[in-house]
Amino acid sequence: MGLNKKLLAICTLASTLTFPAFAVTTLKLSHNQDRDHPVHKSMQYMADKAKEYSNGEIRVRIYPNGQLGTQRESMELLQNGALQLAKSNASELEAFEPAYGAFNIPYLFIDRDHYYRAMQADVGEKILLASEKKGFIGLTYYDAGARSFYANKEIRTPTDLKGLKIRVQPSPTAVEMVKMMGGAPTPLAYGELYTALQQGVVDGAENNETALTTARHGEVAKIFSLDEHTMIPDVLVISTKTWQQLKPQDQQALKKAALESMEFHKKLWTEMTQRSIEQAKSAMGVRFVRVDKQAFINAVKPMHDAALNNPVIANYVRSIDLLANSK
Ligand code: GCU
Repeated sequence: MGLNKKLLAICTLASTLTFPAFAVTTLKLSHNQDRDHPVHKSMQYMADKAKEYSNGEIRVRIYPNGQLGTQRESMELLQNGALQLAKSNASELEAFEPAYGAFNIPYLFIDRDHYYRAMQADVGEKILLASEKKGFIGLTYYDAGARSFYANKEIRTPTDLKGLKIRVQPSPTAVEMVKMMGGAPTPLAYGELYTALQQGVVDGAENNETALTTARHGEVAKIFSLDEHTMIPDVLVISTKTWQQLKPQDQQALKKAALESMEFHKKLWTEMTQRSIEQAKSAMGVRFVRVDKQAFINAVKPMHDAALNNPVIANYVRSIDLLANSK
């Protein structure tokens, strides 16, 4: 074969063997909040960082507003391998992995620093990893503030809950908490809550202040009673199957991006909660009231004691308790 023919043969071979320089993996992420919600913005930040740290190999496409289903439906899709990423929260995840129940005990945290210490310590990481064999793994937490009751009447003591139907998340601990406080818990998906409040299917609900504005609940519930019963983080999870298919360096890139987005979210959460409170007051006429917090604490104290005797979560709760005063 002459030189020209040889060169041509080599070039032809080379062109048939040409692979793209890198393989792009697109991960769909489902969540139930609006684009204006801080957690959407923080996950957008995570997506940008994941792309950067993986040199373009990981692309996260976010589907907000429950477009791909409720939080529960998204978890089911994820377990079946039809979805790669989802944002849920520790309350709803309890039904899929009991370890998350540790975060749902009322008045578990003494303040926001304690809450952050738990999310960032070994105990937080262990809970994220506990569900690996159930088809998903937690990547990071996002601060979701403190949850309080809101309705069209003041709820200053547990007695004020008597006879009220209160929407809770589909979580055994949330149901028990409202029962112990004297209300009638009604589990509903988040997307159904606005109409349920408007039509009087429920008398009230409980969440952080951003629900008043980003989900417009302040239009249909005018009094927010600051009992701050729980601090339940949002959680970003990935399907175990997807995780195992990623190259080690892409796993690292995604985990790093997720952890950094948690830090990014911390400041954003503070600012946007403040903005929600101001907007709820001035544009929606919502009133924020102080309550007899000790009365609520006393009503649910047995839940903390029971958690310490529940073999499934006792170790997690004990570790979280120990972080209360450590700096
Ligand atoms: C919070 C949380 C959501 C959850 C909602 C609810 O807003 O961030 O993940 O769905 O509470 O009460 O259902």
